[in-house]
Amino acid sequence: MKKPYVYVTRKIPAALLAPYKDDFTFNYWEREETSVPREELTKQIKKADALICMVGDAIDKSILEEANQLKIIANLAVGYDNIDLEAAKSKDIVVTNTPDVLTETTADLGFALLLATARRLMEANDYIRQGKWKEWSPYLLAGADVHQKTIGIVGMGRIGRALARRAQGFGMKIMYHNRSRNLVAESELGTTYASFSDLLKTADFVVSVVPLSSETENMFDSQAFQLMKKDALFINISRGGVVNEEALLQALQNGDIQAAGLDVFKEEPISKDHPLLQLPNVVALPHIGSASMETRTSMWNLSLENVAAVLRGSAPKTPVSQ
Ligand code: DGY
Repeated sequence: MKKPYVYVTRKIPAALLAPYKDDFTFNYWEREETSVPREELTKQIKKADALICMVGDAIDKSILEEANQLKIIANLAVGYDNIDLEAAKSKDIVVTNTPDVLTETTADLGFALLLATARRLMEANDYIRQGKWKEWSPYLLAGADVHQKTIGIVGMGRIGRALARRAQGFGMKIMYHNRSRNLVAESELGTTYASFSDLLKTADFVVSVVPLSSETENMFDSQAFQLMKKDALFINISRGGVVNEEALLQALQNGDIQAAGLDVFKEEPISKDHPLLQLPNVVALPHIGSASMETRTSMWNLSLENVAAVLRGSAPKTPVSQ
């Protein structure tokens, strides 16, 4: 009997495939630095039984129309806004993601970005490498304190809670906004629920961990940035689509907020000429929230387990509700 065909849209370490090789045929896009072209992906989707894809792959209605025998789309991410869930459901295709395994790693990065933005680490690093350090002076590259300040976490899911745990360690006051109250986070982590506008008005650090959906798209708009304190810092580790980037740019340029730390952008990869990247008060990262060696391996393994389960006729471990 012909083995089911699994297509992976990026190079996957061969060792991870070894336990599955007897049962499935694998093929993957070889070039690590570029994503699979649409034409190639369309060709692969026509014949694949399973697809392992990434946040940057648009798995939309038109590409899914080409699928003839696809049973599962396993997204190598916790977010799945790159997949048209309805179109997948209409073709009985299961969609899975990689929650839990990346929670702590993503929260680590979120907190690192917050600290780097507050204490101006990137500017300081450039300063010393460019030979500008001539003498020590009291306010040289002075930034903002983090300890004892108020963090406002927008989106109190798993990653939001993991961020709150880190903020506790820094003695921060923790506010959050979520579509529903999270009583566990309130009692166990000492977080306080706030309306979106109250959080924006009060927090010293506004951190977006909210998934992208039709309700959250552009929720950080000019009105939101106007409500923030002038010395507030905005950190985004969720999706670029939750921010109106034009409004953010203006807020940063006009001094309506102090600085931003961004791991995600509307267009990824963002062009190096983008006006946001020209500002010294922006720390920008290329969407590396969950990028640790250990976590990437766990994400691959979870995706492979999900694929194997579905192709063997069982329920996947981490399905997305469709
Ligand atoms: C996720 O898991 O959604 C991340 O953004 C991708 O690393």
